[in-house]
Amino acid sequence: MPEVQAPKIAAIAEPKRAVPAAGSDVPRHVAIIMDGNGRWAAARGLPRVEGHRRGVEALRKTVRAAGDMGIACLTLFSFSSENWQRPASEVRDLMGLLRRFIRNDLAELHGNNVRVRVIGERVDLDPGIRRLLEEAEDLTRANDGLVLMVAFNYGGRDEIARAVRRIAADVASGALKPEAVTEALIGQHLDAPDLADPDLIIRTSGEQRLSNFLLWQSAYSELVFTPVYWPDFDRVTLEQAVEEYRRRERRFGGLAAKTGS
Ligand code: FPP
Repeated sequence: MPEVQAPKIAAIAEPKRAVPAAGSDVPRHVAIIMDGNGRWAAARGLPRVEGHRRGVEALRKTVRAAGDMGIACLTLFSFSSENWQRPASEVRDLMGLLRRFIRNDLAELHGNNVRVRVIGERVDLDPGIRRLLEEAEDLTRANDGLVLMVAFNYGGRDEIARAVRRIAADVASGALKPEAVTEALIGQHLDAPDLADPDLIIRTSGEQRLSNFLLWQSAYSELVFTPVYWPDFDRVTLEQAVEEYRRRERRFGGLAAKTGS
């Protein structure tokens, strides 16, 4: 079920289509496709799991940097609904890293006023992992600092399909008229309906595609691709991506603000 709650963070609780206030040059919501762990490891003759381990270190650095930079929400693509196709041993490694990350880092995240949220399908997850994710969300629910949104067993098409299924059930029961199905209503049935769409989506490793990440929410996101492999990503590369974002002109389908052209 989606978590429908009063928004905790005023900075990102505005209507989803809201254009950032003039002069606010720090993106409120940054989402990252953390790619290149395997290639980072292969380039060093190391097993893939070592790339993922170093990826967790990069994740820690990035969370701290995002908080310091005044980013309100950081969404990290940690395990996609397609990642189950990887060898069982790699899936086990990734699940183990998530477990360890929550066990080792939750207290520090909580101490730093970070609110952890999770998007993705939880039904298929191991009950132990599900409990850990819930524990992280429950412990940090009242925090009003950075929102760390972990996309785990997440797929954009799956998220939209789950939303549509719930809406279809309401239409079938007569609770909802077909003409009430609007973009806003679909948005309200997504996994984190209260959060603003990402202003900036970064993908590391040189690949230039979304790979089923935040398909609905990315309609007007700025995309920045960096050749850096995820384990090498840090505060400096995050700042560079934000710099690139600042140079972009966001028009949301309208006209340029200054020239009207
Ligand atoms: C892509 O690298 C990355 C992932 C599949 C997942 C990202 C995972 C982490 C950063 C570590 C795990 C952290 C948590 C909290 C679960 P890739 O393996 O696709 O790299 P490649 O394209 O070079 O093979």
